[in-house]
Amino acid sequence: MVGASPMMRKIPSGVFGLNPLMDGGINERTVSVVIGAPGAGKTTFAINFLRRGLEQGEDAIFITLDEAPEQIVQEVIQMGWEDAQQHLDDGSMVFIDASGKQFTNFIQKELGAFVGEWTGHNARIVIDPLTPVLWSVKERYEQRDIVSYLLRETRKIGTVLCTLEEHGIQGDLAAPELVIPMYLADNVIHLRYKSHESPEKREMKIIKCRSSKHSRYWHPYRIVKGAGIIIQHASEEFAPAEKRVDFKMELKKQLGKVKAERLEAMHPMERDAMLHTLDSLANEDLSDLDPREVVTRILEEHGLI
Ligand SMILES: Nc1ncnc2c1ncn2[C@@H]1O[C@H](COP(=O)(O)OP(=O)(O)OP(=O)(O)O)[C@@H](O)[C@H]1O
Ligand SMILES: [Mg+2]
Repeated sequence: MVGASPMMRKIPSGVFGLNPLMDGGINERTVSVVIGAPGAGKTTFAINFLRRGLEQGEDAIFITLDEAPEQIVQEVIQMGWEDAQQHLDDGSMVFIDASGKQFTNFIQKELGAFVGEWTGHNARIVIDPLTPVLWSVKERYEQRDIVSYLLRETRKIGTVLCTLEEHGIQGDLAAPELVIPMYLADNVIHLRYKSHESPEKREMKIIKCRSSKHSRYWHPYRIVKGAGIIIQHASEEFAPAEKRVDFKMELKKQLGKVKAERLEAMHPMERDAMLHTLDSLANEDLSDLDPREVVTRILEEHGLI
């Protein structure tokens, strides 16, 4: 696979707090893999990514390999993305349901035509999860061939993000079904989810990000209805829980500092989506997140601060 060149354009990831950790965002037309245990937030991550593209007028392709599209749509609406159905209705988002199919057949027989159909579009493509593709063939070299072909083809139509299931010991990224896609991908992000701890702990780390200076640390993250994944940055600036400020007040304060022209210059769809997200968070339980950091991460994602 051709690596990212320094000339590559960064696109915003849609995952709040991630762009600064990846040197400004995800390189356009690259392949990212997001690795995590069950419940880590892989699908949420993928949705954040697609949603951000849609806001900017890009197309979204969701290739699902184990859940039915209807179920995914229902879940994302429940997670606070009310516009999902509208994007499906107007065709800006499509689901490719490969869940009941022989993946090898789908990839070998249908993928070429599909890619041909979408050539010329500027899309974000999600493959969630990629793991069954690896399991659909037996030999290691076949696994490499099929995944390599799949990624090469899909990146022709845009920026690709695949998720990988982490089985067995968490943090052991040496399993063959992880290693092959990790090698082929341009970017690798690990979502570490310690569901056995109380309270549960979620942390993310960028394992690799070609052609970019990226963070080498673990960063805690939360999943919040309406916003999806929010990555926290280590900072003394944000107060401990007992000193929390009111979300609505904080929002008003920070938005007040943004120049009106900056807001007006935004793509209307993006601005509406951002304001809607911020608005909906006012009624959410942010648990231990500092509202000041939540507002900061969201305005930062949209380049307003
Ligand atoms: N409405 C909600 N509000 C807040 N958090 C939610 C909500 N719905 C789901 N979550 C959180 O998101 C987590 C699931 O995230 P997601 O489905 O993205 O994980 P995943 O890594 O894709 O899991 P899987 O391996 O099962 O596909 C849930 O465990 C839950 O903690
Ligand atoms: Mg999932």
